Amino acid sequence: MISGLRIGFGEDAHRLVDTRPLVIGGVIIPNSPHGAEGVSDGDVLLHALADSLLSSFSEGDIGDLFPPCDSNSTDLSSQTILATVLKYLRSNHGLFTIYNFSCTVTIDRPKLGPHRLIIRQQIASLTNINTSQVGITFKTSEGLSSNYIQAKVSVLLESSPDR
Ligand code: C5P
Ligand code: MG
Repeated sequence: MISGLRIGFGEDAHRLVDTRPLVIGGVIIPNSPHGAEGVSDGDVLLHALADSLLSSFSEGDIGDLFPPCDSNSTDLSSQTILATVLKYLRSNHGLFTIYNFSCTVTIDRPKLGPHRLIIRQQIASLTNINTSQVGITFKTSEGLSSNYIQAKVSVLLESSPDR
């Protein structure tokens, strides 16, 4: 079993289509012209965040727990994916303390700055930490990839030696 400070990193990207709602960090962004294609709700931020947690324990990625070809992965809420990852890590590695998440989301439009606080609050609530422990920056691709959304997440956590 692993104990001590651990750093994790996760990344995810999806194609944007005009037939889907835009879901970021468990928040549905109102009036978005497009949303992420994908077998689940396409929430790249929660996918990258869940991968950052798995990676911090060298536990592979969410595709191992939810194979994209598995019918149980279809239309899955990313909040369920994250909850399952947290439960899986606690049962394999015992208690751990998340110190902070540092996140970047790249998408040309819509403007996400006005939604930053509610996304931070939602991630904090889903991971049982304070909003001040979730930092998010938004970036455009400067028009280079206007049908594309990408998220990157770092996490710092500490795993307890006691199970
Ligand atoms: O990528 P760029 O440096 O051009 O982003 C400029 C500003 O626009 C940043 O302050 C960022 O927070 C904001 N932004 C945003 N929503 C996006 C992309 C960028 O609010 N989808
Ligand atoms: Mg820039």
